[in-house]
Amino acid sequence: MTPDASSELHSSAPERITLHGRTFIRYIERHIIAEAIRTIAATINRDYAGREIVLLVILKGAMMFAADLARALNITVQLEFLRASSYGSALSSSGTVTLESNSPLEIVRGRDVIIIEDIADSGVTIRALCNRIHQFGPRSLAVAALLSKPSVHKGTIQLDYVGIEIEPVFVVGYGLDYNELGRNLPDIYRLADHD
Ligand code: IMP
Ligand code: MG
Repeated sequence: MTPDASSELHSSAPERITLHGRTFIRYIERHIIAEAIRTIAATINRDYAGREIVLLVILKGAMMFAADLARALNITVQLEFLRASSYGSALSSSGTVTLESNSPLEIVRGRDVIIIEDIADSGVTIRALCNRIHQFGPRSLAVAALLSKPSVHKGTIQLDYVGIEIEPVFVVGYGLDYNELGRNLPDIYRLADHD
């Protein structure tokens, strides 16, 4: 493929898409996402200058965010992955959070850890993650979320780095899914009001 063909491919983002029969409208364009990530990376680079950190990436939603953020960091990074699922409907979490990890969480002991999450909605997932990670004695623990819906947070949530604050709408794209579809979209889309 020529470079021209690839840029054409990327500029043809549709205004509306359909996933599982529901309509989503383009909401946050990729250059806004990229700018938000550059800002978070600059802050982390400054806050952790000269240190070595563990990025604990919460799968699957945070994979795109983590891939872009990690490459914008100029400090030494260890990448680890954790699966967090909250069983409920496709549009809201149930409040019960299950965690699965391939590598033992012992690796966080004595380390500077940043949890990388896609979105803080109710905040229940982030709270459960923080409680769990604290049990393994990290030297420090911070949380980075690409998106946050502050008006629907339930109680206080630790959020050290937030990319973009959004309205309480359901969004997909850039890692976020609707029933497992939409994660590959380079832009973020919101559920259409009438849908
Ligand atoms: P919580 O309500 O903050 O615990 O959100 C839990 C999880 O639900 C997040 O990590 C996301 O994976 C998912 N989630 C919350 N809001 C959205 C959304 O608008 N779109 C897609 N997934 C979401
Ligand atoms: Mg998720």
